[in-house]
Amino acid sequence: MHHMEMKPGVYPVGGIDWDRRLFDALIPLPDGTSYNSYLVIGGEKTALIDTVDPSMDHVLISNLDQLNIERIDYIICHHAEQDHAGSIPMVLELYPTAMVVCTPKCRDMLIDLLHLDETVFITVDDKKTLSLGDRTLEFIHTPWVHWPETMVTYLQEDRILFTCDFFGSHLAQSALYVRDECTVYESAKRYFGEIMMPFRTNIRKNMEKLKDYSIDIIAPSHGPVYDKPEFILDAYRHWAYDEPKNLVLLPYVSMHGSTKEMVDHLVRALAENGVGVRQYDLTVADPGKLAIGLVDAATVIIGTCTVLGGAHPLAANAAFLANALRPNLKFASIIGSYGWGSRAVEQITGMLTNLKLEVLEPVYIKGNPKEQDYAALDKLAHLIAQKHRESGFQ
Ligand code: FEO
Repeated sequence: MHHMEMKPGVYPVGGIDWDRRLFDALIPLPDGTSYNSYLVIGGEKTALIDTVDPSMDHVLISNLDQLNIERIDYIICHHAEQDHAGSIPMVLELYPTAMVVCTPKCRDMLIDLLHLDETVFITVDDKKTLSLGDRTLEFIHTPWVHWPETMVTYLQEDRILFTCDFFGSHLAQSALYVRDECTVYESAKRYFGEIMMPFRTNIRKNMEKLKDYSIDIIAPSHGPVYDKPEFILDAYRHWAYDEPKNLVLLPYVSMHGSTKEMVDHLVRALAENGVGVRQYDLTVADPGKLAIGLVDAATVIIGTCTVLGGAHPLAANAAFLANALRPNLKFASIIGSYGWGSRAVEQITGMLTNLKLEVLEPVYIKGNPKEQDYAALDKLAHLIAQKHRESGFQ
């Protein structure tokens, strides 16, 4: 196998998971993913930066074999989650003198998750450095991207920042570096929406912290490597700092068509009022697309029919997910229809408690929509347009 050398003595040694279609038993991966691991060979010491998901440990081993690596001194562990740390026990078996370098919090988590022995660790404080001889690793604590123990590593002499999940994307591609920025942008935004958005405040703090570093390459542990790091730094600046946009998300589920008629009407009315809108049929929608929309949206309207006396479970699932992802939503409402009675409105509004938003008067009607119901939807569309305008959302 051919190894792409990033800089002399710096090699990618991870695995590309072309066929994986689900992450965390939750998140669709339409374009697969990768578990990037990097080897840094210094004048005196050799460091392995992150490992891979255990399902691909054979790829990591084969890549190390190809490079004839007989000794690894340090395994840098940025993050205890198993898709990066899960192969540490196997690496330690093959390279028994290696030490695991991580934050103190990460050590405790690795002991819990992988049952590693306490004696294998070197814990590092924020900004601590480790010499490989002619090369220096600097460890920068970046908590909550996206677990409490996370850190990144700056290879000082080569100005490479290894960031693990931070700035990552679920995207399998054969080339090491970003080739098509549009593709990577979508994958990285999906990743941000699903993984990073709940920690937007911490992301801002960590972005501030990284400002002082001169960075030529950002090497995450998912997706392609950024040889033009400004591309992803700029994207993160928008996603983490920007005000919401003049955009409504409308995830909906309809059994017999009444709720769908309301959705269609509201989507048209919003467009006529100059509001951007995206509708998602929850029976087939990719939750990742919803997460991407939630990065930008000012308003969410949940469209739900009534089944079993309340909200449809798919609508409840969408509301639960939106609440968990803690987007920057400012307004919400509910539209839909019932036959004889429904607790849908209370149920859905009761699920959005993480979000500091204003609930606009729902339009929840009996039976198939009539003139006055369409008028209520028009009023809702008008109110949303007005609220967005008053808030200055563009
Ligand atoms: Fe890619 Fe949080 O692990």
